[in-house]
Amino acid sequence: MQIIRTVSDLEAFVGKTLDNGKTIGLVPTMGALHDGHLSLVKRAVEDNDVSLVSVFVNPTQFNNPTDLATYPRDEENDFRLLAQAGATAVFAPSVDEMYPDGTQADHVYDLGTAAEVMEGKFRPGHFQGVAQVVSRLFLLCRPTRAYFGEKDFQQIAVIRNMVESEHINVDIVPVPIKRADDGLALSSRNALLTEEQRNVAPEIHVALAYSVEYSKDHSVSATHDTVVERINAVPYMNVEYFEIVDGRTLLPVEEWTESPDIVGCITVYCGKVRLIDNIRYK
Ligand code: PAF
Repeated sequence: MQIIRTVSDLEAFVGKTLDNGKTIGLVPTMGALHDGHLSLVKRAVEDNDVSLVSVFVNPTQFNNPTDLATYPRDEENDFRLLAQAGATAVFAPSVDEMYPDGTQADHVYDLGTAAEVMEGKFRPGHFQGVAQVVSRLFLLCRPTRAYFGEKDFQQIAVIRNMVESEHINVDIVPVPIKRADDGLALSSRNALLTEEQRNVAPEIHVALAYSVEYSKDHSVSATHDTVVERINAVPYMNVEYFEIVDGRTLLPVEEWTESPDIVGCITVYCGKVRLIDNIRYK
């Protein structure tokens, strides 16, 4: 596996690949890789001639400096896992390499209303930072396909809107959530949980899965309330938001009949660690 650190080496790698008529599958990551990331890499390896993984903790998408400072990093282990998974190359630039003119964005991305709800409300500026780094990665890597995990359900919708408004020619491929055996959605942030917190964190998925059954004979608002009450009753847990939304617009629904595509999106603080998850109702 080739390790690429600079934009000029990346451009040479991408240029040569495309000149040879090969397709590139890009997996953008912030490192601290786990089986969820590796399932994206597996898809990229299967679908494309060349699989390129970026490992870059993007400072512009963190609205909380402590969150950025404590974000888990383990580059050596990441490279080992990527080589084992069969990735062709990894692009792991420094912040200066990625943002040679500074991290200040020179452009406001049109991300649609999907960026204004949920994470958009609680993490102001977050999606502009995601759009800034992902659009730069798309420009540099020129992928045929790019792979994103469905744990970040809203992020996928926002990136699709960005691709459309910026006229970028790339297929966005969503990949299902990977879970631990006890149901907890895999996330780099799980490494920050204490043992006690890790033991109770699966309750997020347990409550969401239970709510799918419950929703069959209860209203949207009763289903919402039962999830929030159940999770808030668990030690260390505090629901930041739980919204039951139309899976296409991400706007809240009030009735189950309102849309053929309904998803519940949740963010929970487990101690100081912010965990996100979602569940499909329809
Ligand atoms: O999902 C992530 O890990 C990040 O938001 C991404 C897409 C790699 C952009 O930094």
